[in-house]
Amino acid sequence: MKIKEIYDLAIRLGIKADFRGEKEITKLLERKKTNYEKLSEKEKKEFDLESLENPYLDSRIYNIADDREIKKVLVGIDIDPAEILMAKEIGNIDLIIAHHPIGKGLSHLSDVMELQADILNIYGVPINIAEGLMKPRIEEVARGINGLNHQRTVDAAKLLKTNLMNSHTPCDNLAANFLKELIDEKKPERIEDLINLLKEIPEYQEAAKIGVGPKIFVGSPENRCGKIALTEITGGTEGSPKLYEKMAQVGIGTIIGMHISEENKKEAEASNINVVIAGHMSSDSLGVNLFLDELEKEGIEIVPCSGLTRISRK
Ligand SMILES: [Fe+2]
Repeated sequence: MKIKEIYDLAIRLGIKADFRGEKEITKLLERKKTNYEKLSEKEKKEFDLESLENPYLDSRIYNIADDREIKKVLVGIDIDPAEILMAKEIGNIDLIIAHHPIGKGLSHLSDVMELQADILNIYGVPINIAEGLMKPRIEEVARGINGLNHQRTVDAAKLLKTNLMNSHTPCDNLAANFLKELIDEKKPERIEDLINLLKEIPEYQEAAKIGVGPKIFVGSPENRCGKIALTEITGGTEGSPKLYEKMAQVGIGTIIGMHISEENKKEAEASNINVVIAGHMSSDSLGVNLFLDELEKEGIEIVPCSGLTRISRK
């Protein structure tokens, strides 16, 4: 496989696992095209053309130094210049794949957060409320990432002639979908049942060995789960703290997340919503692994690094 084929596969898998469904995503892309046509020539020059094809702008190809056949990939959750150097030391690495966005993908992280409003809507939160509460939060995240050193890792990849891409939301969609199917099938009744169910997943078993297995952040083991929502596994990063009250009103009893801020935890607590934190690197690993299985099927060798616990399910 070539880099672009690997990248396109990630996007395709992400769309297939997306809670919004393929039809809805096609509609969103069509809408972007219509809006693009209305722009002035000057505005079109600045426009990110990739947004017309790719619904996940936090996932990109950053550098193609040599468009060769990819046989061996170095894959990590966070890729910094250190990992670019590591690839050189390891040798014969054809491509580095990051999970978390860098460069242009990082500056567009807030773009994928619109997905959260749709997911909340699927779970019953009226779309006007979900959009109304997510909008200021999306803007807050956009401001927060604006001042970062976006190109640091990309520059290192260019200097060291290293192929580099990332897949963030597509992989998070795969993790969210995997967990949703498992929960729909096993229907855990109490929080302890949910924790035990998560602990059957090898990525979480490995995380538990180093002290970061699935944990209850709000609630107690004997609490009934009620309706379990997977609103916080995908969609960029954490949503608005004001949403918990609305979630409780529409009958959500428990949320599963990768991580949660203190402010959001307090709001969930005030709304009597149980919060189970599955784990960050472990949940990221789960999603990335489901993508990597497809690469392994194509004969590509995987070298995990930077927090990725590689589990093969192929
Ligand atoms: Fe993450």
